[in-house]
Amino acid sequence: MTRTPIIAGNWKMNLLRADVTAYAEALAAAGPSGAQAPDNEVDVVLFPTPVYLGLAATAMPDWVAVGAQDVHAEDGGAYTGDVAAAQIVDAGASWALAGHSERRQYHGESNDDVARKARRALGAGLVPVVCVGETLEQRQQDQTEAILDAQLGAVLEVLAAAGGAGAGAVVAYEPVWAIGTGLSASPEIAASVHGHLRARLNGHQGGLGDSTRILYGGSVNADNCRDLIGRTDIDGFLIGGASLDPASFLRIIRLSTGSGDGS
Ligand code: 13P
Repeated sequence: MTRTPIIAGNWKMNLLRADVTAYAEALAAAGPSGAQAPDNEVDVVLFPTPVYLGLAATAMPDWVAVGAQDVHAEDGGAYTGDVAAAQIVDAGASWALAGHSERRQYHGESNDDVARKARRALGAGLVPVVCVGETLEQRQQDQTEAILDAQLGAVLEVLAAAGGAGAGAVVAYEPVWAIGTGLSASPEIAASVHGHLRARLNGHQGGLGDSTRILYGGSVNADNCRDLIGRTDIDGFLIGGASLDPASFLRIIRLSTGSGDGS
């Protein structure tokens, strides 16, 4: 089964209104850059901060989807500062991250919380992108697979529910030690972990490995993207820092999809 690659940018808590507009103009001016040619399909997604979701959804060219960086596990109610899945959809977004390591670390989100968030996103019609990844300490203590198995195990039912439904659900492997450090996982390490995650997905009843896309995230840039995406089980990227500049993001799209040399 061919899985359409995904190139996604997570802006985290960066950029202002004028930057969002200028970014959208830069993408529109560049055109789909071969990305939407039938033989070269790719899903391009950007995750702005929630206040700019509506702006980004309106301003971006139609080959760029917009998603939320987080989604609340409840339908709505007295949750000051949080955003409900229905509100994300209403703002024009169609994807949502769940369980980014910065949410797990700074907001104490547990595997169970992440599963509930992903389920709520899916129920509202959003494509959930569930983030998993080990810390440096966990890797050094040889706990990588155990940590990933627990994180993935918590969301298997959600991924199964998403199976075959539209764009389905997505897993993003983001080793915490590679995020924002400039120290990407080597293609060998990333491929080995992705292979493990794929096997776990395939081991679930019915097998989810063929349909679930697995992204890599952690210091992805124009220099390392081609080697990473060349690996069988790496279906695309979730990019932080290198997605903040539209020229850099476009370059990674082009290099990763083979639609040019990235210039
Ligand atoms: P960097 O690409 O800046 O390392 O961030 C990765 C990330 O956390 C994307 O969600």
